[in-house]
Amino acid sequence: MKKTAFIILSVIVLNSFFLQTALAQEKSIAQKVDSVLKLMTLDEKVGQLNQYNDDWTATGPMTIDTNKVRQIQSGKVGALLNCMGTERTRKWQKVAMQSRLKIPLIFGQDVIHGYKTTFPIPLAEACSWDLDAIELSARVSATEASASGINWTFAPMVDIARDPRWGRIMEGAGEDPCLASKIAYARVKGFQGQKLGETNSVMACAKHFAAYGAAIGGRDYNSVDMSEKLLWETYLPPFKAAVDADVATFMDSFNDINGVPSTGNKYLQRDILKGKWEFGGFVVSDWGSIGEMINHGTVKNGYEAAYSAITAGCDMDMESRSYTNNLAQLIKDGKVPVALVDDAVKRILTKKFELGLFDDPFRFCDPEREQRELNNPDHPVAARDVARKSIVLLKNQNHLLPLSKNTRTIAFIGPLVKAVNQNKGFWDVDVPGIDSSYVVSQWDGLQHKISNKVKLLYAKGCSIDGDNKDGFTEAVNVAKQADVVILSIGERRDMTGEAKSRSNINIPGVQEDLLKALLATGKPIVVLINAGRPLVFNYTADNAPAILYTWWLGSEAGNAIADVLFGDYNPSAKLPVTFPLSVGQIPIYYAHFNTGRPALNDNNRFYTSSYNDLSIYPKFEFGYGLSYTTFQYSNLQMSKKKMYSNDQIKVSVTITNTGKYDGEEIVQLYLHDVVGSVARPVEELKDFRKVKLAAGQSETIKFIIDLEKLSFYNQQLQWVAEPGKFDLLIGASSRDIRLKDSFELVE
Ligand code: NOJ
Repeated sequence: MKKTAFIILSVIVLNSFFLQTALAQEKSIAQKVDSVLKLMTLDEKVGQLNQYNDDWTATGPMTIDTNKVRQIQSGKVGALLNCMGTERTRKWQKVAMQSRLKIPLIFGQDVIHGYKTTFPIPLAEACSWDLDAIELSARVSATEASASGINWTFAPMVDIARDPRWGRIMEGAGEDPCLASKIAYARVKGFQGQKLGETNSVMACAKHFAAYGAAIGGRDYNSVDMSEKLLWETYLPPFKAAVDADVATFMDSFNDINGVPSTGNKYLQRDILKGKWEFGGFVVSDWGSIGEMINHGTVKNGYEAAYSAITAGCDMDMESRSYTNNLAQLIKDGKVPVALVDDAVKRILTKKFELGLFDDPFRFCDPEREQRELNNPDHPVAARDVARKSIVLLKNQNHLLPLSKNTRTIAFIGPLVKAVNQNKGFWDVDVPGIDSSYVVSQWDGLQHKISNKVKLLYAKGCSIDGDNKDGFTEAVNVAKQADVVILSIGERRDMTGEAKSRSNINIPGVQEDLLKALLATGKPIVVLINAGRPLVFNYTADNAPAILYTWWLGSEAGNAIADVLFGDYNPSAKLPVTFPLSVGQIPIYYAHFNTGRPALNDNNRFYTSSYNDLSIYPKFEFGYGLSYTTFQYSNLQMSKKKMYSNDQIKVSVTITNTGKYDGEEIVQLYLHDVVGSVARPVEELKDFRKVKLAAGQSETIKFIIDLEKLSFYNQQLQWVAEPGKFDLLIGASSRDIRLKDSFELVE
């Protein structure tokens, strides 16, 4: 052995001996972290704050590193993203184990709605209002991802979104803080499992902090201008719910908020998140967002960008290299106290300890487990269940649905019938070396469902976009031969997602013309609308007798749709977001204020808050969704009509399944604070229950009203409940209020 090689080896062995001895002596993770920190050079500390992309799947400009191996060997990288599979993650972890202190890497990935098994897009899942199903979806995703080398997902996205032009509306839970907070909590629990450190748990990441979903004009990455009240009352609650669920990490956001980029926003990160909420995990920037502060015009160069981000509380730099290039210098120049860097390093090391990576850096890299979990037969079963719970029945004239399995001839028409990958939605994961092509197309799903006595005919009709109508004649001929037509139309999956904002959210191309041509045959038609966002489709909504909004349902799309079409699953989903009648109404959401001149209906336009040329009503409201059965709401009871602040009101309501099918109903409880020191929304969702009832069965549902549900932020931003009258509204949607009462909060 050459002399220099011998010296290097001895130093490595010695350092690792020191590290092992130091760790063996300490008991708590905090003590272990301190021991490691003491051994670290400034460069190694800065290295922990640095996250690199593994040279593919970029969602922004990236730097291809020819010297990544060297960088990792010298401790200059703390985490990788977009590095998947046990083979590849093991390869990079081995390189990290050649570094002086052998600090393991974390592997992060956008596991947004599934890993190999793809679940419905998050907005679709939110339609289920089924917190157990949503948690299970995240659990399965975590089980697969963690078996495949990943220990950190950049999910859930908990941004409230009230603008369907914004492409990322697909990634969240809709417009309402109450529903979105419960879903945020369930998703974090699902990803993180029992606790970090279990081999099937991954760190979750609540993103994008904050208010990214309120981009002006629905244009991705655009500025946000927002009052503190709106921020606290509507946009922050899902983030707080994620903290309550013990989320391990946060991601800040691309946007500026009131002129201050979130990445350099001390108020958000240090004061609220790490201060008021006592968040103990770490914050990662969004892709390149530290460097992008130069474009925002709030810093001059990378040096100032790094200063701004670390001071504001952003602990890890995703891909901008601002920390690597500037932090050490900032410390040497006395601009940044080393304590700030130490705090960020400690937060990151703590998570590495909690994940068990110091005990075994390869614990997520077992190829046998990877094979087993990526082929786990339970996962498609879960995906099918969540998928069918996500399908919203928007219209069902004359009980056209469910279809009879004895229908003689069915025409299945449209550009999405035989599509495979489209069903996966925007954020599917392509696992290298793993066959992730398993998706049940709608055509296959239907074929599995029907017997060979049923004749199934197909015509594409047209493409998703473009104006070619050449296929119409064939489609019409096929329709004429059928007893019933199913038409599958919608967006392409890459029309909604990151950087996929659109000003025109109509059903693209000539697809609605195809529907018109098919309707002229006089055949009964069921329309499936495949999309990532609420679309505008008034012609379809007004003319098709039956409509299922199927979103993007993932690997089991075809089976789930067939289950619903033929009544093996009775649709129960309800919209978590308002569907506008026209883009001109956006932003439109149910929890608006009354204003001083409310338009009480569309005939009431004389100097009221209305449009001269457009209805005030959405096409489909928040909370809307039909079932094959009907539910009656009765017997609203309240334990008292006057409530003191230390009190509660018990509310009960009886729900009866009055139809022919077993089914599930999502019972929604709204409140309206009649007079407040500031205006209060006309109604606000405060709670809900999903109840399963056999045909003819009744059940009494119970809710509790406490002070928390009556509270809001007053002008001084204090969280208060003000004495006075409250309306209680129980309904099947935000407009379909079935039972009403009121009560009083007294001092
Ligand atoms: C940018 C996206 O905004 C963020 O949500 C995602 O996690 C990162 N890219 C990494 O892919």
